[in-house]
Amino acid sequence: MRKNVTKKNSHNGRRWLITGAAGFIGSNLAAYLIERGDTVVGLDNFFSGKRDNVERLEKAYGGRFTVVEGDILDVDTLRSAMDGCDHIAHLAAQVSVMRSIELPHETHAVNTTGFFNVLQAAADFGAASLVYASSCAVYGDNDALPLAETAEPRPLSPYAASKLSNEAYAGGFDALASHFGVVGLRFFNIFGAWQDAAGGYAAVIPKWIDLLLENKRPIMFGDGSATRDFCHVDNVCEAIRLSAEAGPAAKGRVFNVATGVPTRLDELYGVIVRVLNEAGRVSQFAEPERRPWRTGEILHSHGSPDNAAAVLGFQAKIDLDDGLRRMLRQQYGLPVPDRRENEMAGADD
Ligand SMILES: NC(=O)c1ccc[n+]([C@@H]2O[C@H](COP(=O)([O-])OP(=O)(O)OC[C@H]3O[C@@H](n4cnc5c(N)ncnc54)[C@H](O)[C@@H]3O)[C@@H](O)[C@H]2O)c1
Repeated sequence: MRKNVTKKNSHNGRRWLITGAAGFIGSNLAAYLIERGDTVVGLDNFFSGKRDNVERLEKAYGGRFTVVEGDILDVDTLRSAMDGCDHIAHLAAQVSVMRSIELPHETHAVNTTGFFNVLQAAADFGAASLVYASSCAVYGDNDALPLAETAEPRPLSPYAASKLSNEAYAGGFDALASHFGVVGLRFFNIFGAWQDAAGGYAAVIPKWIDLLLENKRPIMFGDGSATRDFCHVDNVCEAIRLSAEAGPAAKGRVFNVATGVPTRLDELYGVIVRVLNEAGRVSQFAEPERRPWRTGEILHSHGSPDNAAAVLGFQAKIDLDDGLRRMLRQQYGLPVPDRRENEMAGADD
């Protein structure tokens, strides 16, 4: 049964439901949207999300951020959190690839059935849009670089399969529900403030930063030549907003959220050490400890941002260097201005 959205917010902004709002991307997205004038309801069961993330948002934004503690598998809670929301960003998931291999049923329940619940509820409530997190993991080991959305999906884990199933369901539902746009985003290696160093994907960044700040030597697997597409979380927030606003051109489609730039791991290490040095946190470990490359890990991955640019008008404006600076300022309180600010300060001298 379709319900009309009744706006509960008193100001002119839109009302969002973010599932997974206590997580890394969800908490950054909540801040980004509220800063732009919207209000946010977060739904999270704190499986991997952090109470600190929610408390920081509550403290900064008062009533414009509210959190519902609950599970996307509990349909009543999900529907009550969604009631009155114009836009849905679905980020809640079991995010560990290793855990999905050990406990595939759990991942199927949270990532596939949970997604189905969100999709069904959003269609019923007449939400204007549903933007959901897919993953570059759907490409698997694919050397058609840069990876374009047309590349053959080759999921290598229950996690990747669950994300691909989301895309299939989204396409099927979108064709039936003309009133709302469902857009999937294949995130590449997202990094930024409040990322869990114990997590997957770009967790190498907070791991290395933490160790270097503690004056410990980080570990690098392989010879440093493996490449990844590191994309700052603020780029992701922008891609989500653009997807929600894109209208018919994006409806039912899936887009990469990537920079299109392959970065070698040794290059990444060098940038981190350089920016930390600039912040006065000089490390004695200019070189990491080397360990053999882990078998089964993909050597090279980067995505093509061309479709997202053409249809959504998306561009990853924050590059690796400035993204690291932003992360070190926000989370660690280190004095590292953006490079552009540096250049301007230099020009004044
Ligand atoms: N971080 C990346 O680089 C990356 C890359 C590709 C895709 N993704 C996807 O982006 C999304 C967000 O990832 P993240 O890095 O912020 O991870 P995260 O673990 O920080 O966030 C996931 C959030 O979902 C919540 N959650 C899990 N199960 C839930 C359930 N049953 N009900 C309600 N909430 C639940 C967790 O508590 C957590 O707060 C995920 O869907 C992930 O698969 C992330």
